[in-house]
Amino acid sequence: MPLTTFASEVLADRVIVVTGGASGIGLAMCKSFAALGATVGIIGRNLDRLNAAVTAISASGGEAFAAPADVRNFEALEQAFAKIVDHYGRLDVLVNNAAGLFVQPAEDISPNGFKTVVEIDLNGTFHGSKIAFPQLSKSPFGGVILNIVTEEALNGWPGAAHAGAAKAGVVSLTRTLALEWAEHGIRVNSISPGPIKDTEGVQRLYEKEGGIERELSRIPLGRFGDADDIANAAVFLISPAAEFITGINLIVDGGRARKRAF
Ligand code: COA
Repeated sequence: MPLTTFASEVLADRVIVVTGGASGIGLAMCKSFAALGATVGIIGRNLDRLNAAVTAISASGGEAFAAPADVRNFEALEQAFAKIVDHYGRLDVLVNNAAGLFVQPAEDISPNGFKTVVEIDLNGTFHGSKIAFPQLSKSPFGGVILNIVTEEALNGWPGAAHAGAAKAGVVSLTRTLALEWAEHGIRVNSISPGPIKDTEGVQRLYEKEGGIERELSRIPLGRFGDADDIANAAVFLISPAAEFITGINLIVDGGRARKRAF
């Protein structure tokens, strides 16, 4: 979906950090934020992908800066945030988007495999939020944190016990931080995307015969989501239009979760 529904300067002067922002939904958010007037600090593990993302954003007239770090490593992440704040002088919004998983039945996941995914998805979100807090609490716009989770988190997620548990933890963390940090002017929300086209998750569905058709039949609106559907929801939640919204989990899934509950 294009961004024509938003005023072109709705995110003007915001400095936004997106973890895992060099690909997929993270990159779509970075591009949208930059197109709407924000400057974007992109954190990720792969320097080539980070540089490619900055180049793509700059080519469309946007402002972006790459700072490599693994969200599991608190000290490295602190340094990456410091580079972005040094570069732009401020931080107004943090999007905790970095995530990792592999599909495996719970009984086969090794203890280290479980720990690794929880460290990326849950600890990484806490690390980013804790590091960003002092800057966010000084933001002239009111700080914002947006966490990207999944609708599977609270229903159980067969094949991804580690990521489901971690993302459920992120939903809880979202609610806690929304309450604790409201007095610091910081809003904290999450988005739960449904199946998004051209992501690894949907690619895996292609591997199973009939997988795509079966999944499509579960989505009342009859299509997979676009990364831009998530970016549009993210723009709304971090913008002044959502200034009275905190502690929510916005499901963006074409009605899939509602159909399952029915
Ligand atoms: N299948 C089974 N186990 C796996 C695995 C896979 N595909 N990938 C990692 N693991 C296990 C490893 O075996 C190891 O456990 P062990 O010590 O008991 O053998 C543990 O996880 C750590 O693996 P390691 O390779 O050191 O971690 P990493 O940081 O390189 O890997 C992951 C990160 C776990 C997220 C990895 O699965 C990955 O890179 N996935 C693809 C990228 C991705 O997740 N994209 C985002 C989708 S939302």
